[in-house]
Amino acid sequence: MKIIMLGAPGAGKGTQAIKIAEKYDIPHISTGDIFRYNIKNNTELGKEAKKYMDAGKLVPDELTCDLLLDRVKKDDCKNGYILDGYPRTIPQAEVLDEALAKNGEKIDHAINVNVPDENIVERMSGRRTCTDCGETYHIKYNAPSREGICDRCGAKLIQRDDDKPETVQKRLTVYHDQTEPLIDYYKNKGIYKEVDGTKSMDIVFDDICNILG
Ligand code: AP5
Repeated sequence: MKIIMLGAPGAGKGTQAIKIAEKYDIPHISTGDIFRYNIKNNTELGKEAKKYMDAGKLVPDELTCDLLLDRVKKDDCKNGYILDGYPRTIPQAEVLDEALAKNGEKIDHAINVNVPDENIVERMSGRRTCTDCGETYHIKYNAPSREGICDRCGAKLIQRDDDKPETVQKRLTVYHDQTEPLIDYYKNKGIYKEVDGTKSMDIVFDDICNILG
């Protein structure tokens, strides 16, 4: 099963994608995580991506598409995958669809986690991310057992640079301009479904599982 998670920054795509990947035993592929890994390891890609990410902009398609296509060719993707944060533009969606079509494949589900803008800033300002394993928490809705420490690996939790309120506002504008048109793109393909992302994490998860079957 090949699944795409759509939604505004901070809507809860990553939170749900991790649980879905576990339940359906498919890899969770987050382009944001791949860029952050490269930034942490100071690679050329990381240095380039950081300029855009810190400004709340999208990393250009020419840096993103090949990276994603290489990742989905790997062996662990044979039975499908869940994409979190890709595609973010119509050209990115077209590149993926064309590459899949060459092998007679296609995306099965595009699921939008719908959260209004007014809820997003609170979500982002409360998010804390593990510096080592990347696990995500929220200081109010999903707090770690020990403040500032990751439950999973014990490393320090930080606020992401791009989660500062002024950058969040820019990311939301970019989302509405460049990513939201994907809703119509996938509606036209007949694979679009939406869940109410303002509900609790467990209810959102159940709603997505009901769609996936
Ligand atoms: P990326 O890492 O993909 O960020 P994003 O899409 O902006 O999404 P987030 O990770 O911020 O949020 P999320 O929806 O996963 O929410 P989460 O589950 O963490 O991308 C970062 C940057 O990389 C981009 O801005 C861009 O520059 C670049 N980039 C990446 N991919 C790219 C691409 N394809 N093309 C070009 N550039 C690209 O949840 C948020 C918070 O809310 C958490 O604290 C969580 O605990 C909490 N929460 C989640 N669900 C609930 C709930 N139901 N109730 C209450 N709280 C909840």
